[in-house]
Amino acid sequence: MGMTKPVILTGLRANNDLHIGNYLGALLPLIDLAKAKGEDYQINLFVPDLHSFTTPIDHGQLQRNIYDNLRVYVAAGLPLDNPNVHIYRQSFIPAHSELTWILDCFTGMGEMARMTQYKDKSTKLSEDRISVGLFNYPVLMAADILLYRASYVPVGDDQSQHVEFARDIATRLNNQFGELFTVPKPVKEQHTFFGKDQGLRIRDLGDPTKKMSKSDETGKGVIFMTDAPDVARKKIMSATTDSLSGIGYDYATQPGVSNLLDLLTLLSGRTHDDVLQEYQGAAQYGPLKAAVADAVVAFLTDFQQRLQSVDGSVIEAKLLTSEATMREQAENVLSAVQSAVGLRP
Ligand code: ADP
Ligand code: TRP
Repeated sequence: MGMTKPVILTGLRANNDLHIGNYLGALLPLIDLAKAKGEDYQINLFVPDLHSFTTPIDHGQLQRNIYDNLRVYVAAGLPLDNPNVHIYRQSFIPAHSELTWILDCFTGMGEMARMTQYKDKSTKLSEDRISVGLFNYPVLMAADILLYRASYVPVGDDQSQHVEFARDIATRLNNQFGELFTVPKPVKEQHTFFGKDQGLRIRDLGDPTKKMSKSDETGKGVIFMTDAPDVARKKIMSATTDSLSGIGYDYATQPGVSNLLDLLTLLSGRTHDDVLQEYQGAAQYGPLKAAVADAVVAFLTDFQQRLQSVDGSVIEAKLLTSEATMREQAENVLSAVQSAVGLRP
């Protein structure tokens, strides 16, 4: 195996267009590191295509979505010319499915049933539309992480529990069978590594008690990376705030306004304190909304220009080389597991 670098890994489901929550929560932390410290780490940004239909999708759109997402990765700044950076499609590496089955047999039903995201998503569906895949997708996600010995997994706040599960199952098998897996770093330590004090959860603009999600059918409260800038501006200007008498940063009482303050901080590159100093206590919400709208428009305009010029053939070539290398890495870990559980001599 030779010298190994610590691995940073994340994936974003290709079930719809990506939005600024996905970008800020998962994509940007990884890409920033790839740009700043790409020599010191192995960086895996993959498309979890098998995760795409844990909830029903239009399967005729899936291929398009997969490539659209890959183009977003590149336009967001992922340096494909760095040999430490890898892009790949999960289903092209059979070890993901194979390890998932083995891990399934060491996972408790109760453990999966307690996952907050499962509880949230399953209450929205009738009993026979809740797939077994939705139920055990954290196991597939654990396989995604453990097959590459990833230490750091940048995800939004909603996925932290699943990363904790990956740690649990890795530790469980290591205890039973010896050091099979690299246990990912504790979520707290990961936040520190990515320079944050907590996981990020951008809120839906219409209902700021919910997270912004691409699974949201109406798309009204979601800023997609491909939204026309003037459409995005309108979504920000009509964001739900509250009927309190001024701007305050407190998600319990003013989630809408707090969300806008965070968006401004993240998209303008200003510090949180600096933004608060300008807006906290102000009586009118209009100027804050206008500033956020300007920041979103500037961000999208620049991003979409880069998206236009992404070269599809470069992606195709990189997929082929990455998938070959990743298949080898994943199979190494898988065969160690197969031997440990007695499937191989
Ligand atoms: P969605 O819920 O929009 O379908 P995914 O579940 O595919 O998105 O999430 C892809 C990544 O983006 C995950 O790491 C997830 O935690 C992150 N993410 C999703 N929504 C948000 C959000 N509103 N704020 C921050 N991060 C988010
Ligand atoms: N489950 C994640 C989501 O729905 C996507 C994902 C799949 C992922 N496998 C992963 C994220 C491995 C990080 C690491 O958002």
